[in-house]
Amino acid sequence: MNFSNKIMNWYSKNKRNLPWRKTINPFHILISELMLQQTRVSHVVKYYSNFIQKFPTIEKVAESSEKNILKEWKGLGYYFRAKNLYNFAKLIYKKKFFPDRYHKLIKFKGIGPYTAAAVSSICFSEIVPAIDCNVVRVFSRYFGIHYDISKSLDRTNLSIMIKKIMDVKYPGLFNQAIMDLGATLCTFKKYQCFSCPINDFCFSKNNNVVDQFPKKNKKK
Ligand code: ADE
Repeated sequence: MNFSNKIMNWYSKNKRNLPWRKTINPFHILISELMLQQTRVSHVVKYYSNFIQKFPTIEKVAESSEKNILKEWKGLGYYFRAKNLYNFAKLIYKKKFFPDRYHKLIKFKGIGPYTAAAVSSICFSEIVPAIDCNVVRVFSRYFGIHYDISKSLDRTNLSIMIKKIMDVKYPGLFNQAIMDLGATLCTFKKYQCFSCPINDFCFSKNNNVVDQFPKKNKKK
């Protein structure tokens, strides 16, 4: 089995049961990804379901008021995300066409590289890696990346490396499989390499240096 087969196989048996994984509706996935920015998955679950129930479509959001959208977001924090979502909905409602590629999504205020990659891969099968700090941790350990890739500018190389091994048929599932590996087994401290589906060729596991990755530049 290659890297992708192993991780996809593991994901099919171990994936976290999350409400946004039951859909590929791009607006719903965008809402989930905006809510998940800087926010714990367990905290988002309830907010996501309530929000979707109240505002199931772009039309419903666009025709609402910012005040009502913010009301539904209350308690999640980082309220600029709700404002960005509202402005996005109003624009798209007018255009009548959801941006279906990474390069289109990234043009909107509030949609950064991670969110654009998550939405375009999950909903439109675009082969683009979604890279957040969990994903950086998994791959810096797996490949043994000896430089600091915490800055988004430094992630271009990593993106190229991941593209070569990601599942081309189900890039969205692949991205979420890596997210789950980072969240459950390849964690910062109590990592569980013995259960990891990709431990056989993992650089840091094989060299017994898992705790030394990801590399961080020393502060001057
Ligand atoms: N964190 C960010 N996006 C996520 C997703 N789609 N599933 C789980 N955790 C995430």
